[in-house]
Amino acid sequence: MAVIAIVGSQWGDEGKGKIIDTLAEKADIVVRFSGGDNAGHTVINPYGEFRLHLIPSGIFYPQTTCIIGSGVVVNPAILLQEITEIQAYDVDVSRLILSDRAHLIMPYHILLDKAEEKRRGQAMIGTTCRGIGPAFADKAARIGIRAGDLLDDNSFYHHLKSVLDIKNEILTKIYNIAPVSLEKTYEQYRDYGKQLAPIIQETSTILHKGLANNDSILLEGAQGALLDLDFGTYPYVTSSSPLAGAGAVGSGLGPKEINHVIGVFKAYNTRVGEGPMPTELKGEFGDLMREKGHEYGATTARPRRCGWFDAVAARFSIQLNSCDATALTHLDVLDSLSTIKICTSYQVNREILNYFPSKASLLKQCQPIYEELPGWQTSTRNIHSFQQLPAKALAYIARLEELSGCPIKFISTGPRREQVIRR
Ligand code: IMP
Repeated sequence: MAVIAIVGSQWGDEGKGKIIDTLAEKADIVVRFSGGDNAGHTVINPYGEFRLHLIPSGIFYPQTTCIIGSGVVVNPAILLQEITEIQAYDVDVSRLILSDRAHLIMPYHILLDKAEEKRRGQAMIGTTCRGIGPAFADKAARIGIRAGDLLDDNSFYHHLKSVLDIKNEILTKIYNIAPVSLEKTYEQYRDYGKQLAPIIQETSTILHKGLANNDSILLEGAQGALLDLDFGTYPYVTSSSPLAGAGAVGSGLGPKEINHVIGVFKAYNTRVGEGPMPTELKGEFGDLMREKGHEYGATTARPRRCGWFDAVAARFSIQLNSCDATALTHLDVLDSLSTIKICTSYQVNREILNYFPSKASLLKQCQPIYEELPGWQTSTRNIHSFQQLPAKALAYIARLEELSGCPIKFISTGPRREQVIRR
């Protein structure tokens, strides 16, 4: 069968959870490959409404093995809480597996994330304060603690002690914060380790067995391309790669195993946190979009910044991800508008830019150049076939395809499972 990566293609919150939930129906394995509990994937299905931060969105199908891959940083408390929450809805979690290579978010990561944000003051990034950046920094610095480390009490204790020696110096001497207790943290994480031991495994082997078995595998992205550590609006980015390429690295598959990449886009743009967003609408219109689209962060409940679809950024994301198809979500949010704008290029002083600049300071100066299309002003919420969409909605979709250079294969017109049109 095929390996399909499903990736966010704007600044996160594109509605990946729903598209993954839709496609997972036929998947044997779903793997989360990057990010951590900064992600919040909303899934509405017959079990109820869920905001999954770590567990792959395929968990609701009885045949699907769900893997939290090595590229994810995991807060064990959040994972255990999420397991308990979905078990309360009678969802079977026996097919959940956590990579032994996945790094753990420790209490000092969360304290440092908050302290670093405070210290940045006006220059803050607007992180989710979940400890994501400090955990990935420790991974790169080779002092991280991995899920598999919890399975050996003695070595875990000594590793934790050596890391805490440094972290407590930083917490107390630089940030004036109380130190993290070695004994308390050790006991707490030992307990998490006992609870998680049955699901901690080497996962690359499982995936390669799946490949040999012709299994259908979905790679579940988190965040979005414009938050990528290398290609996003640095430094206003997350600390891992949400790109499809990271789907191979963060799961343990080889890059040639990925057969298809689906980029998920909202029919407009949103962003949560700081950093440039050329098409942002600051006034009444942005507020209207926020209310219609319920644009509040699934993880932090922060109001999302809203704006028109940015085709310059979309082209860039599609290239970065090698998308061969896209999914367009939240189309219904635009239903009532009389005109809809699409940003086709940027202007800085007298210069026209047709590319997404690498410097956040330049992107901040970019003025969007818009093309205006007529709105369809009728509800798309209960439409189930592509041909039945209003002609003006079809024209909007066709223009997005033309400008971004990739076919739109899925259109979502509401939060429920059945509100997806497949082309
Ligand atoms: P961090 O990932 O918590 O370090 O946050 C870095 C930036 O990424 C901030 O602007 C966050 O708001 C943003 N971010 C992180 N995760 C998500 C997500 O799942 N959706 C949208 N924005 C996110």
